[in-house]
Amino acid sequence: MSDIRLEIQPQGLMIHWGETFNYLFHPLWLRENSNDPEYRDENIGARIPQAADHSLDIAIESAEIDTACTVKLAFSDGHHCEFPEKRLRACAEKHRPDDLIGDKVFWQRGFQDYPTYQLETLKNDESAVLAMLATLAKYGFAHVQGLAIDDGALKSLSDCVGPMRETNWGTLADVKNIPNPYDLTMTARSLAPHTDNPYRLPGPGYIFMQCLRNNAVGGESLMVDGFGVAMTLKSADPEAFESLTTIVPNFRHAEDSAVLEDSGPLIELNEAGEVARVRFSNRTEQVPPLSTDTLNRYYRGRKKFAELIRLCNPTSVTLI
Ligand SMILES: [Fe+2]
Repeated sequence: MSDIRLEIQPQGLMIHWGETFNYLFHPLWLRENSNDPEYRDENIGARIPQAADHSLDIAIESAEIDTACTVKLAFSDGHHCEFPEKRLRACAEKHRPDDLIGDKVFWQRGFQDYPTYQLETLKNDESAVLAMLATLAKYGFAHVQGLAIDDGALKSLSDCVGPMRETNWGTLADVKNIPNPYDLTMTARSLAPHTDNPYRLPGPGYIFMQCLRNNAVGGESLMVDGFGVAMTLKSADPEAFESLTTIVPNFRHAEDSAVLEDSGPLIELNEAGEVARVRFSNRTEQVPPLSTDTLNRYYRGRKKFAELIRLCNPTSVTLI
C-alpha cells in the first residue's frame, strides 16, 4: 500500500503505483462506476442512473487509501464511494475485460499441440464443455472426436454448447459435390483457405464441421490461424496491414432464394487496436472501384496477406 499515492488534479484523480505506473481517472468515470446500491443494483449489477442524470462538472473533493488498499472518494455532489485499488489498476491496464475471453494464442504452420475432446465426456461433464470453449477462444478452434457417422451427430455436439442458428441453408448443410451447385463448396474444386459467410449479417459465431466420409484421394482439412497471419503481416509489412484494416470491400452471395451482402475490412480491429475479426473470402469479395492509389494499396496488402496465408500458416488437422 505504501507505494500507492493519490493526487487530485483538475482533470481527475491521478493514482501513482510506485514510480513505474500511474493513471489519471476522469471524475465522472469514477462517479458512475460507484457500487453504491443507490447507483448500481446490488443483485443485477446494472447501473441505475441514466446518462442524462449525470452532471458533467462533477469533481473529486477528497481521496484517500486505507491499509486494506481501498480507495475512498468523496464527490462534489455529496456522494461517497470506495474502490479496491486492484479494480482500478485492472481497469487502467486493460480497457476491455478479458476474464471471459482470455489470451489468444497465435499458432503457426505445423501446430499440433492442441487438446482433443471426446463427445461422450462433453455430454456428461459441463466442466469439459467449459474447457473446450476456453480452447476455442484461445486457438480459434476446438477438436472433438467420438461423433457418430450420421447426419444428426453434429447436433449432439452443438447441444452441449447452445442453440444452433438457422440460416437460409437450414441448421445443417451438406458440403458435397452435387450436379447443380450454388456454392463452390459443392463442386469437386479444392478450396483455398477462407473465412465463411463474410456476407452474412450478423456473421457466424462458430461453425461446427464434421467429415462424414471422403471418397476421393486428397481432401485433407487445412486450418489457418487468420489472427496469427494478421499479426505476422502487421510486423512484416505495417503498410499492408494498415491498408487491410482501413479499406472496406463488400461481400456478396447470391442464389435463387437468397441474396446476402455485408461489408467490412479484411482485418478488423477493436478499439484497443487488436485483431477482432478476419474476413478472407476470395470468391465473394468485391472491392469498390476506389481511387488508383487506394486500390494499389489494397491489392498489394491483400496479395501479401494471401501469400502469408498460403505459405506460412496452414496446418493439417484430422477432423474425423
Ligand atoms: Fe467454408
